[in-house]
Amino acid sequence: MSKDQTQSFTPEDVAIQPRNRQHDLAEALKGDWMRKDVFATAWFNAMSITFPLGEQFFINSVRHYRDRITDPKLQEEMRQFFSQEAVHLREHKRYNEMLCELRGYDLEKLEGPLRRRMSWVKKNIPAREQLAGTVAVEHLTAVLAEKALGDSGIFADADPAMRDLWQWHSVEEMEHKAVAFDVYRAIGGTEKMRRAAMRRSTLFLTWDILHGVRHILKCDGVLWSPKVWFSGIRFLFGKQGILKGTWAPYKDFFREDFHPWQEDTSDLIVQWEVQQQ
Ligand SMILES: [Fe+2]
Ligand SMILES: [Fe+2]
Repeated sequence: MSKDQTQSFTPEDVAIQPRNRQHDLAEALKGDWMRKDVFATAWFNAMSITFPLGEQFFINSVRHYRDRITDPKLQEEMRQFFSQEAVHLREHKRYNEMLCELRGYDLEKLEGPLRRRMSWVKKNIPAREQLAGTVAVEHLTAVLAEKALGDSGIFADADPAMRDLWQWHSVEEMEHKAVAFDVYRAIGGTEKMRRAAMRRSTLFLTWDILHGVRHILKCDGVLWSPKVWFSGIRFLFGKQGILKGTWAPYKDFFREDFHPWQEDTSDLIVQWEVQQQ
């Protein structure tokens, strides 16, 4: 591959910029911060539990191929990707520790299965397949990030401090949504492996979140409450549900010529930046 060959396909006008933010979440985490709903709050708290380990895995799997990338633009984007994920990791680690302390959840029980699986994957799965897993989860994250932003985003009725955190994270996920993908393509990752990784990742991520939700609802004493589960179904699949409209972008990933920036979401980043001023 010649030195000046383009490997990055992130649009020129999208800057991947780490914003070293700190979030004060103590007040919000005491209560049901997401739409004042027990299940919705448990769902996002369970998602947060997966982030520190997950994001460290993303960083490692991309960093493994640092020396194989020759495009200076993609090299720079990788550096910004590492910085963004490192700050996300730090903030969600703090979030998770605080959550468990305030609400009496057991962090080791919550993180344990994921930690054991990650260390198994690290030892037993080839680096290229690990990167394919990262590419898949980064797409899932980008699809959810799109739902999180904009005026009618899923966090419109969330506690403002929590909305700030999740939308900041979403914007940065959107900015770097193609970095792992472009690295994967540059090192010759196959379409078949990418698709298989998505099937597996969807299953595992759903399993991990449900494991977290179960622990949280059990500790809250509402695991067997039909009311909580009905509201959960509405929250996931209802008219305002977080999964509404996600099937089409999810399926796009399986197309042969897929690239994350075929869906141009840069206006959501600009809109968020304007709101911050
Ligand atoms: Fe992240
Ligand atoms: Fe990410």
